[in-house]
Amino acid sequence: MNNEHPLFANNRSWVRAVNASDPGFFATLSRLQAPKFLWIGCADSRVPANEIVGLKPGEMFVHRNVANVVVHTDLNCLSVIQYAVDVLNIDDILVVGHYGCGGIAAALEGQRLGLIDNWLRHVQDVMRRGEQLLEPLTTVTARQRLLTELNVIEQVANVCQTTMVQGAWDRGRTVHVRGWIYDVADGLLQDLSMCVGPGDDVGVLQRAAALAAAQRAMERSVRT
Ligand code: CO
Repeated sequence: MNNEHPLFANNRSWVRAVNASDPGFFATLSRLQAPKFLWIGCADSRVPANEIVGLKPGEMFVHRNVANVVVHTDLNCLSVIQYAVDVLNIDDILVVGHYGCGGIAAALEGQRLGLIDNWLRHVQDVMRRGEQLLEPLTTVTARQRLLTELNVIEQVANVCQTTMVQGAWDRGRTVHVRGWIYDVADGLLQDLSMCVGPGDDVGVLQRAAALAAAQRAMERSVRT
């Protein structure tokens, strides 16, 4: 059992490469973290948060779970948001979904995978609320893509409704919560036109972003 796990060799060569390009990197980082962004994304292995946006360790605070869901009673996610907003003073919160998400597909198709089914009930709630928008789409892929977008838009609203973000806005902080989507097929991020800041009406923005997403989905389905 003394065989070293192969990832330790990977780690050492990564450290060598970082030190070669930036000798003071670890010394600086060890003193403090001052990330400017909070990323809330999916746990999917194809969506490595920092890498996608070209940020180094120390530059982004990250929370990931299956299907990037923000649940009002999830102390894990809520604690991350609280620490990010109140302690790290982050004003830029990104909720990032991705096309080809297994969690979204499982929720849409009602697959039985085990315990995770209960977590994905939250995505099924999004699906039920977006039924009228999803229903006209004729292919599974089109519905999956739209549900992925609707889920991001709803999770942005959920972040906005937390006491941490509401409190930050009350104190005059300019916290913005944005909804983005990542395409594992081409590596590109897209903005879902769901960006909420102080004084904005979350419900109005959510409905507008959801309708715009449905409109794009219909246009895509006509083209293909
Ligand atoms: Co996913």
